[in-house]
Amino acid sequence: MTSPIPPEFLKTLTDERGVSSTELEALSLVLTGKSTQDEIAHFLGITPIALRKRLGEVYRKFEITGTGPGKLVELKQRLISAYQSYQTQSARRRDWGEAPDISVMYGRQEELERLKQWIVQDNSRLVAILGMAGIGKTTLAVNLAQDIEEEFEFIIWRSLRNPLPLDTLLGDWLIALGNQAESDLPTDLNERLSLLRDYLNQHRCLLILDDVETIVRSGDRFGRYSPDYEEYGLLVRQVGESSHQSCLLLCSQETLRDIRRLETTRPSVHSLPLNPLPDAAARQILAENGLTGEEKWENLIRDYQGNPLALKLVAATITEYFNGDVVEFTNLQTILVDDIFRENLDRQFEKLSDLEKDILQSLASQDKPLSLRTLQKNNSISFSELLEVLDSLRGRSLIEKTGGDGKKTSEPFFTLQPIIRKYVKTYKLNDL
Ligand SMILES: Nc1ncnc2c1ncn2[C@@H]1O[C@H](COP(=O)(O)OP(=O)(O)O)[C@@H](O)[C@H]1O
Ligand SMILES: [Mg+2]
Repeated sequence: MTSPIPPEFLKTLTDERGVSSTELEALSLVLTGKSTQDEIAHFLGITPIALRKRLGEVYRKFEITGTGPGKLVELKQRLISAYQSYQTQSARRRDWGEAPDISVMYGRQEELERLKQWIVQDNSRLVAILGMAGIGKTTLAVNLAQDIEEEFEFIIWRSLRNPLPLDTLLGDWLIALGNQAESDLPTDLNERLSLLRDYLNQHRCLLILDDVETIVRSGDRFGRYSPDYEEYGLLVRQVGESSHQSCLLLCSQETLRDIRRLETTRPSVHSLPLNPLPDAAARQILAENGLTGEEKWENLIRDYQGNPLALKLVAATITEYFNGDVVEFTNLQTILVDDIFRENLDRQFEKLSDLEKDILQSLASQDKPLSLRTLQKNNSISFSELLEVLDSLRGRSLIEKTGGDGKKTSEPFFTLQPIIRKYVKTYKLNDL
């Protein structure tokens, strides 16, 4: 029997313990178990006592106490288990794909804890982080994944910013998971899915899929998949419904109906809508950008709805044109819709139904929240149609339900966030 531990590994391990080369030589021969200690001593040209002395040094350096042959058995076991854990360690794979570098994240502790609870403690299989562009989904997901990295054998990050057909994504995942060559993969979608299921079952994997909104439909069929990407439903349903030990984490601006449905029936499916950044955290972003005029920070944070991306963009403008003074900027009483933000909203607007556009127009034309009744009257539609549209627009973080206009009533009121109102008024009123 040869030693189950490769010589290079044994050398590294014994070097760490300060084992000398002659001691290592003796140990290696003993570990093979091929010869008696007397034979080994003879082979090395030393006395059996000198051999035992060398081995004794090794035990001492590994802090193995006791007497007799038990010490060799224990040392052997320790070396083998060190080697095994080294092997599993090196089988762990991380493929961060296009994940942004980890960046500072203010606040979001509660959200982070909730996600960890779901994913690590409860072994949830399907989790979605939802919220409007720039609210911090990607940032939260990166921080989370880094925090819980140790819990997973595999971590793979992919983005659907440029959406791919499901079989391409599955192929890419399978290669990353199994180290397989493209040519070894089945071409059939269902076979790829079932291969993925096997992996998710055998290994603890965290698959992160960012920018999922690109495959989601809006309009009257909101929350379903765009016609070209309907097969993604197979993935979402299989991951959410079958039993395995992995987790698929999605980040999306738009909710998926499949997730909403599974969430109500399956304890292992969850979604987390991201709220605006709390005041203290939003202030840290402004402070980090060196802004002054603190007495107006609250107004700025309210105007940009605690959206970290919007705040960062407006902070850059204030720095450039107002010498960083928020008071001077807020005196202008304007809301800036940065190009980056506008492009994002343009993409969302392209997907709206006519009725959704009408509702946004109604809401943008008034500077106060509107009640269900008013919206229904202005747009002459049924309540059920209206509720569906409002649900769809809220699901995409375009409108908000509010406490109304101060009257004591339980009737819900709806409004647009200031930045969305400005966008609709400036760029969209004419084309609606
Ligand atoms: N909690 C936070 N603290 C500080 N900066 C944040 C936070 N969340 C997001 N950001 C910053 O805001 C910008 C948008 O965040 P991102 O995670 O890309 O949003 P999303 O993925 O929702 O579109 C990034 O520049 C990011 O660094
Ligand atoms: Mg993102």
